[in-house]
Amino acid sequence: MVQKILFVCLGNICRSPAAEGIFNKKIKDRHLENLFFVDSAGTGGWHVGNLADPRMRETASSRGIELTSRSRQLNKNDLYEFDHILVMDKDNLHAVKSLIKDDFNPVNSKIKLILSYSKESQLDEVPDPYYGGQNGFENVINLLDNAIDGLIDYLTN
Ligand code: 4NP
Repeated sequence: MVQKILFVCLGNICRSPAAEGIFNKKIKDRHLENLFFVDSAGTGGWHVGNLADPRMRETASSRGIELTSRSRQLNKNDLYEFDHILVMDKDNLHAVKSLIKDDFNPVNSKIKLILSYSKESQLDEVPDPYYGGQNGFENVINLLDNAIDGLIDYLTN
């Protein structure tokens, strides 16, 4: 059975495309790509159709990760279509859950903060790098790299 994984952030041009690229590289390196379908989306629609932010693409590329996805906005159907929905921060979490507005809907249990899978970081949230400097983009990759190892371990055990 293919597991369908969706990464979500605000703009879908920095954090969630990076998560998608890192996840794709790791499953390819481990010859697990047939087990997963991976995508990303933003809760906002300002950047729909755009490639990831050049700063994020450059930082990812320097680690051997090519980001090729185009921004799209999350829709309610995604919550039924995907098996696991990994959000970057608590604002994203609230925005995603607000699409269903029902605490008893079983879909809620699919939606998790990505850093809950990290075995290293004490943080809950991947900080938004958009208005900051280069360090923020490096930090995003470092945080996601570790959390996605934990996520893949969880999904394959
Ligand atoms: P992301 O970063 O949510 O990681 O893609 C952002 C990208 C764009 C904006 C905010 C955050 N923006 O305000 O346009």
